[in-house]
Amino acid sequence: MPPFRLAHLSDPHLPPPKGALGLRDLASKRALSAMAWRRKGGQHDKAVLDALVADIGARAPDHIAITGDLTNFSTSPEVAAARAWLSSLGPHGHVTVSPGNHDALVGPAEAHRFAPWGPWLADDEAKAFPHVRVRGHVAIINLCSAIPTAPWLATGRLGEAQLAQLAKLLPDLADRGLFRLIVLHHPPVMGVVSRRKSLEDADAFRAILATHGADLILHGHAHEAALGVLPGSTGLVPVLGVPSASATPGGHHPPARWHEIEIGAKADDRQVWITARGLSDVTGAFETLGRYRLAA
Ligand SMILES: [Fe+2]
Ligand SMILES: [Fe+2]
Repeated sequence: MPPFRLAHLSDPHLPPPKGALGLRDLASKRALSAMAWRRKGGQHDKAVLDALVADIGARAPDHIAITGDLTNFSTSPEVAAARAWLSSLGPHGHVTVSPGNHDALVGPAEAHRFAPWGPWLADDEAKAFPHVRVRGHVAIINLCSAIPTAPWLATGRLGEAQLAQLAKLLPDLADRGLFRLIVLHHPPVMGVVSRRKSLEDADAFRAILATHGADLILHGHAHEAALGVLPGSTGLVPVLGVPSASATPGGHHPPARWHEIEIGAKADDRQVWITARGLSDVTGAFETLGRYRLAA
């Protein structure tokens, strides 16, 4: 059986449609976010994102995982525009979205907050996070760390209910012989982002991981490439972050990149290979930056 090939991209920060910010947004956290967005200027470019998506399409992965921050201010027009963009990526069953803090900037943590993205969050939209999508020998465990926060904060939280469900799921999925791939927006490894941007209940998440294990964790949020490990039940669990999918060269962060992740099929030989595909500031095209195997 060929390996399962997954494309991981993150933080596309799609350009806000005209009129996305209304007058009443000016008194909310959205106004601060809009100021930050203007300060960052051209650090995100839809043309770069389009080129990245074309590069993914050319390599025809089995699945695409997007770890959040599709929008900038989480307004309704932006959520709708992001839904249209998701639709352009192919069948929704081939694309999984874990929301980011920019997708939940203000307001209460309503259950229906991400309803327009439902078909990309889960196979059964009626349930709450965590969602599990089984594709071949891979179980994609979709967590949501996106919460509204106070101004100037970009923290995330999984919450007790979601963590309790995760603790039940992990051993069940292991018993079924599935490769357990966790996707979430905020990095669960300490030090990848500042405290202001961190996952508030990372300790509780890491405790569950230490008890039940997992095979690979993917995140976004940092806009940097990051490879770390966390203790699992039988060994170390690799944790992989990817830069923003729309980042232009010459900004604060690395230019746009996505990772092609090949997960071997055999239960006793599940090699994981990573191919980093990045935007070259020399050629202006996407090219392979490196290819490496994650050691077991
Ligand atoms: Fe982001
Ligand atoms: Fe973020």
